[in-house]
Formats: sequence, C-alpha cells, structure tokens
Amino acid sequence: MAGKVLNYGSLNIDLVYTVPHIVRPGETLTSLNYARFPGGKGLNQSIALKRAGAETCHAGSIGEDGRFLAELLQADGVDVSRVAVLDAPTGHALIQVEEGGQNCIVLFPGTNRMNAAQAPDALLNGFGEGDFLLLQNEVDGNAAVMEEAKKRGMKIALNPSPMDEEVLQLPLSLVDLFLVNEVEGADLTGEEAPEKILDAMAEKYPGAAVVLTLGSRGSMYADGKVRLSQPIFPCEVVDTTAAGDTFTGYVLNGLLAGEAPEVFMRRATMASSIAVSRAGAAPSIPYRKEVEEALGRL
Ligand code: RIB
Repeated sequence: MAGKVLNYGSLNIDLVYTVPHIVRPGETLTSLNYARFPGGKGLNQSIALKRAGAETCHAGSIGEDGRFLAELLQADGVDVSRVAVLDAPTGHALIQVEEGGQNCIVLFPGTNRMNAAQAPDALLNGFGEGDFLLLQNEVDGNAAVMEEAKKRGMKIALNPSPMDEEVLQLPLSLVDLFLVNEVEGADLTGEEAPEKILDAMAEKYPGAAVVLTLGSRGSMYADGKVRLSQPIFPCEVVDTTAAGDTFTGYVLNGLLAGEAPEVFMRRATMASSIAVSRAGAAPSIPYRKEVEEALGRL
C-alpha cells in the first residue's frame, strides 16, 4: 500500500482582485472584479494530493475566521485533526490577477507563522517509514519538523516557495524531493540554465530527486538514474494561481504510488493545465478522474 502524506503547511484566505494590469508604484487602480477563495500553498497542495488519490493529513494553524478552510479540506477527505484553531487572524493573500492570468501576491502570514505551539513529535505521531512530509515556505517551524520526520524514517518533499533567506537556513541535506521553479533553482545553486541547475542540485544534494518547473517551457525531472523533460499541454489561461501547487500534489502522489516519472510528470502537467484554465486557487484544482479523461482525449 502507498504511504501517506503529512503536509505541514499554510492555510490562507485569498482575496482576489481582477485588474486591467498589475498596479504600478504610486497608482490607484479600480478592480474589475473581487472574489474570496480558499488558498495557501499548503492547503492547495493538500487538496491536490487528495484529489490525485493520496491519503493526506494537513497540519497547520488557522484563526476563527479560517474555520471554513479546515471544513473545505475535510469535505475533500483530508485529515484536519492537526489543524489548530488559534486566537489570531488567519493568514491571507492579496492577489491581483490581470488579463492573461498572470498574478502577483502580497501575503499576510497571520496564524501560519504561529505553528510553534504544536510539538513536532505530536504532529508527526502515526507517521513513519514509507510516508512523506511535505513542506513549503509560508509557515514557521519547518526545521524542527524536518528533523523529527527524519528520526521517524519519513521522506521529505520541499517546495521552497516563496523563496527567501530562511529556506537556505533549513537542513536541506535531509530533503528527498525538491519541487522548484527556475528562480528557486537558481537561488539554491547559483546556476540559471535548467540543465545546469539540475547538475548542481545533483552535486549539492546527492540522492534527492528534483522537479524543476519552467513555466510555458514545461518541466523537468531528475534523480540519480533518470532525467526527462515534459512539455506543457497548452490551454486558455484564466488564472495561474495554484498551478504549481496542483503540480506538486500530483507529482508527490505519483511518487508515493511508485509510478515511473514519465507517468506522473505527464499527469501532473495535465492537472496544472486544467487548474490554470479556471479561476481561484483551491477551487481550480481538478480531480484525478477529470485529469485522466483529459489525457485520454489527447
Ligand atoms: O500558490 C498559490 C497560493 O500562494 C495562493 O493560494 C496564496 O494563498 C499564496 O499562498
């Protein structure tokens, strides 16, 4: 049986403004539309994992105003017993989406940066060999949880988004799977060309697999034995928010299930392609059945 995933990650309320263009410094801009969505890289990735088919438990923190986020995860079948409700505001993201789907995001961390109250050994209770810990960089406490996961024989997947100095202070040698975009790959290695990023990652973190996303140029996968490229499946772009999170969830599910990289990279690419063709973060993430059907139509 495939292992399960403990996703130690953020939960955000996404405040999404549709704009004619991303606001410029000093400019006041009237938005064309406003919508409130469930989001957060952590929450989005838990939903993607579960919709892909993985047994998923989410750990993190919300305030009273974020209870609907835990309810949404639960409705999708994600275990939320490790989501704490604190006396502080839930994290939120102020998102501008311009015509063509490009976005820009300002984060208010809120309770996402108040996870320290939860002891790592209690958070990871019931997880061990064969299971994965998944992390992003929108919460506090990542290093302690990584150390605890390794003690238990778990594998660690890291999506170091949003990239900052804190990521470089994490015990990165413990990571088994990196999911990075070109900017993150360059920050981790000092290289810019995709092949060189992968070479440098292999040298710096031997034994770790790397998934490198390249936007409209697709993505690449590399481990000690395999290196492959996966082109995108073109589609009409409505909103790119959560495309990367969808990709992460579908890749990790495939890896857990023991699939070949060419199989899960293809499925993850189709899942992201469907996600960008819809508005919002979590609501845009497709179920496995829709993804398989779309692949069947190719
Ligand atoms: O990756 C997309 C997510 O980033 C959004 O849902 C937003 O909450 C930010 O965390």
